[in-house]
Amino acid sequence: MENGKISVAIVGGGETGTPMLQQFLDLDFVDVRGVSDLDAKAPGMTLAKKHGIEATTEFLDLVKHNIGLDIVIDATGVEEVRKTLRAHLADTDNQHTVVVSQSISRLLMSMANGSLVDLKHDRHGY
Ligand SMILES: NC(=O)c1ccc[n+]([C@@H]2O[C@H](COP(=O)([O-])OP(=O)(O)OC[C@H]3O[C@@H](n4cnc5c(N)ncnc54)[C@H](O)[C@@H]3O)[C@@H](O)[C@H]2O)c1
Repeated sequence: MENGKISVAIVGGGETGTPMLQQFLDLDFVDVRGVSDLDAKAPGMTLAKKHGIEATTEFLDLVKHNIGLDIVIDATGVEEVRKTLRAHLADTDNQHTVVVSQSISRLLMSMANGSLVDLKHDRHGY
């Protein structure tokens, strides 16, 4: 938590990750450190670049390039991404960075929305 801000990185610059990124950019207590998507032209990647934020197709770069990162949000819906992130944090003895689950993302989005947000891909929930 450098500068007293909450540092966040987002994996997945699609329908979930992009509005989340926009909301974070509007909050002066959140320090967005990076976004990753396999598609370099995904909306979240474009928005990140526009704001001078790291935009990488290699999601582990977000953790490797940001020592002390507070939170990494998996907004891909791809279970392998979550597993790889957690394995990397364990392998590097990173006890600090938290990988945010789909349920927490839903809670945050619902709080921002003021009512419960439906998950489009509930069947892939994990
Ligand atoms: N859209 C919603 O209403 C909503 C709300 C809350 C939670 N969610 C959850 O968020 C997840 C994603 O949903 P979405 O609608 O944003 O999907 P989406 O397809 O719009 O976005 C997912 C993005 O992840 C990227 N991606 C996939 N594998 C990747 C990898 N290995 N590295 C980097 N990027 C990768 C894809 O390229 C894509 O741009 C789902 O699990 C969904 O249940 C969705």
